[in-house]
Amino acid sequence: MSEHIKTALTDGVLTVTLARADKKNALTQAMYTALAEASERARTDDAVRVLLFKAEGGSFSAGNDIMDFIALGSQGAAAGDMPVFRFLKAMADLDKPAVAAVRGRAVGIGLTLLLHCDLVVVGDDALLSAPFINLALAPEAASSLLLPAAIGHQRAFEIFALGEPIDGPTAVAWGLANRLVPSADVDAVAADLAAKLAARAPNSIRKTKRLMRDAEALWGLMQREGEAFGSQMRSPEAMEAFTAFTQKRAPDFSKVG
Ligand code: COA
Repeated sequence: MSEHIKTALTDGVLTVTLARADKKNALTQAMYTALAEASERARTDDAVRVLLFKAEGGSFSAGNDIMDFIALGSQGAAAGDMPVFRFLKAMADLDKPAVAAVRGRAVGIGLTLLLHCDLVVVGDDALLSAPFINLALAPEAASSLLLPAAIGHQRAFEIFALGEPIDGPTAVAWGLANRLVPSADVDAVAADLAAKLAARAPNSIRKTKRLMRDAEALWGLMQREGEAFGSQMRSPEAMEAFTAFTQKRAPDFSKVG
């Protein structure tokens, strides 16, 4: 369990709330474990019809905790052993609908998680980014496939390589989100959509979702991405990027070979 992940089951909707607002809901290892448990429960518990992700505070998530990257990189941890992979596998396997309520920043896995949600509501303050290359990392969560499939290669490459955020209207125009609403309404609109899905025929919705995505292929890709991500995470260029973040300066890649 993590104090930073809250779960509640009401009327068939398992709501998972990211609750680390002082760190913009950056995700720690303990949070990934709790997210994995919730996503696994969503698939196996018949009482759960829909999984809903939301967040406390003004930001959905600042992505993986960079202090954790530093710790894991210096321990030489293999990417496959990280709790994030248990969570990603659970999301690849999930055949029940997932909904996301996104206010403010959604960085890294904060964005790539949305590619595994079926309905996404963004606020008018939403800023979505995946600055993997700014951090000298590589795409994860099958985003190397799902993001270009959703928005096209050039837009996806720009998101990975330049790391600049796209706003809520752009997310909807590009097909990454279903609804753009005032920030204050995001949670309510997402909860309303989740309630509608929870009332739909459960087996029909599961079969539909299974037909629309190849869980095994997604998990295979996540593992291949994990190899690139893991070796980058331990690389000198990533250490420079992580250190630059902690020192609140721009990274200098001119000296890494
Ligand atoms: N890991 C660890 N701590 C993080 C974090 C992360 N991914 N994102 C934010 N934080 C921390 C900050 O260090 C800061 O902590 P402090 O108050 O102890 O100094 C706190 O959360 C608030 O963040 P701050 O940067 O002051 O907020 P902001 O509104 O100016 O900027 C972001 C918000 C999300 C743009 C900025 O925090 C950011 O770029 N974070 C890193 C995002 C990232 O690269 N994630 C990894 C993707 S793979």
